[in-house]
Amino acid sequence: MIDFKTIEYNSENNELVILDQTRLPEEEVYLTLRTAEEVCLAIRHMKVRGAPLIGVTAAYGVVLAARTSNQEQIRKACDLLRSARPTAVNLSWAIDRMERTLSQSNDPFTLLVAEAKAIEREDKAACKSIGDNGAELISDNAKIMVHCNAGALATSGIGTALGVIYTAKQQGKKICVFSCETRPLLQGARLTSWELTKNGIDTFTICDNMAATFMPDMELVLVGADRIASNGDVANKIGTRGLAIIANYYQVPLYVAAPLSTFDFTMASGDQIPIEERTDDEVRRFNERCVVAPSAKICNPAFDVTPSQLVSGIITEQGIISRPYTDNIANFK
Ligand code: MRU
Repeated sequence: MIDFKTIEYNSENNELVILDQTRLPEEEVYLTLRTAEEVCLAIRHMKVRGAPLIGVTAAYGVVLAARTSNQEQIRKACDLLRSARPTAVNLSWAIDRMERTLSQSNDPFTLLVAEAKAIEREDKAACKSIGDNGAELISDNAKIMVHCNAGALATSGIGTALGVIYTAKQQGKKICVFSCETRPLLQGARLTSWELTKNGIDTFTICDNMAATFMPDMELVLVGADRIASNGDVANKIGTRGLAIIANYYQVPLYVAAPLSTFDFTMASGDQIPIEERTDDEVRRFNERCVVAPSAKICNPAFDVTPSQLVSGIITEQGIISRPYTDNIANFK
């Protein structure tokens, strides 16, 4: 079904090949990364993006460093990769795993390759199970609103929120997706429309400010997550909270689809989650043109936090978590 690979590690040359997501939908271009520094920049500049895929990519970034470096240099590479983006906890979760593996041997390269491959394999399997668990929520002829890109492009598997949609389609259900464009970087317009149409899903791209107009027709809203606190508060792409408020007003359920690697059990609530602030230029410029008065100030938080009261359920690889979140999430620790 998915006919592209977001990431591929080449063990013969110790190289990482990634699909450059900044070039989509115009061009399907693959980049070869050879150092942890290159991987860090690819994550920071969002050539690879999406919480689970950032984790898998960073794990292979450690592998690239490990071939020629000593323990201390590999640890420095880990720190660098960890700093690439702050909100998606999958990044530090993957680096923590790689660092634990690193401590197990003085000659850790083979172990690190195996661990990165395990992280990738587990991500694929989690996506598949999230798809199976979430598809039961979707009826035939459902209209579903999505935000940003929580699809195959955001993982090494079939995706989380979009994985649910692909699985429901495979079960024979007819689905129509309304994809919010997701300013400023347009992951919904550029990426979600690309992968959904490639997979034969009926898709309308709408501007973010059209969400309230179309919401009353939706069966549900499906989004991904970058970090979920212990009380069920969800950090996801900026605009998710607005969608959740609109969905709540129209009594449309909003479900979050995310693997357990996206839960941060150390954070009691969403207000502790670090929110990435990105450069002014992403808002100031549109399609190479400056669209904001040069002296006007800009805000550009990349994520927001949706309070758990607005979340109808969290679809994970181990089942759907419902309220009360604090008690139910604790069972997954
Ligand atoms: O800034 P991005 O494009 O990395 O943000 C991605 C999202 O917000 C996704 O919804 C989230 O990472 C989940 S991906 C399965």
